[in-house]
Amino acid sequence: MKFFVDTADVDAIRDLAELGVVDGVTTNPSLILKAGRDITEVTREICEIVDGPVSAEVVALDAPAMIEEGRKLARIAPNIAIKLPLTWDGLKACKALASEGYMINVTLCFSANQALLAAKAGASFISPFIGRLDDINLDGCELIQDIRTIYDNYGFETEILAASIRSVNHVTEVARIGADVMTAPPDVIRKLASHPLTDKGLDAFLKDWEKTGQKIL
Ligand code: G3P
Repeated sequence: MKFFVDTADVDAIRDLAELGVVDGVTTNPSLILKAGRDITEVTREICEIVDGPVSAEVVALDAPAMIEEGRKLARIAPNIAIKLPLTWDGLKACKALASEGYMINVTLCFSANQALLAAKAGASFISPFIGRLDDINLDGCELIQDIRTIYDNYGFETEILAASIRSVNHVTEVARIGADVMTAPPDVIRKLASHPLTDKGLDAFLKDWEKTGQKIL
């Protein structure tokens, strides 16, 4: 499963990239607001750090304007994935921009039928938001499973990009189901390394090592 980082925080991306765990980045208007930076400038900087797909989202609502914004965003760097909302116009823009050879990430997906349409419109990635479904007492991971089954039934090549990941358990679950990609905030990715028994075990090893009086030379 590929790991994308869901942030426009360049320092956090750089830190995770050093570990080699960043296969791509996803941003959205809320994350750009949080970063407090100009979209073109910050997206260009991210594309310089990360070789994989960097999603940048359009804000227009009608297909012709989405297409225009998408082309502008794609000029930032060759690894831009144009992010389009899962609306009828978003799907039209997806079809048009995918036919021009752009990578498209269709976002704000909340149903299997939406995912089916995005695949038929030529999306490179579909982004089902699992945390937001859990927020309203639905099952986000069940949606990932449904999309996996449907895409596999027909051999769709659109990658399932599990988004709105809120916990390490979400990561395990979508990996178990077979999502192609997951995108998570930096703190969730860092938490994947923690286990209380690792900390406890390390503490015991270090205490015993001190008692040996030795040094590794
Ligand atoms: O990848 C989509 C993500 O940014 C949405 O996450 O936590 O705002 O639902 P969240």
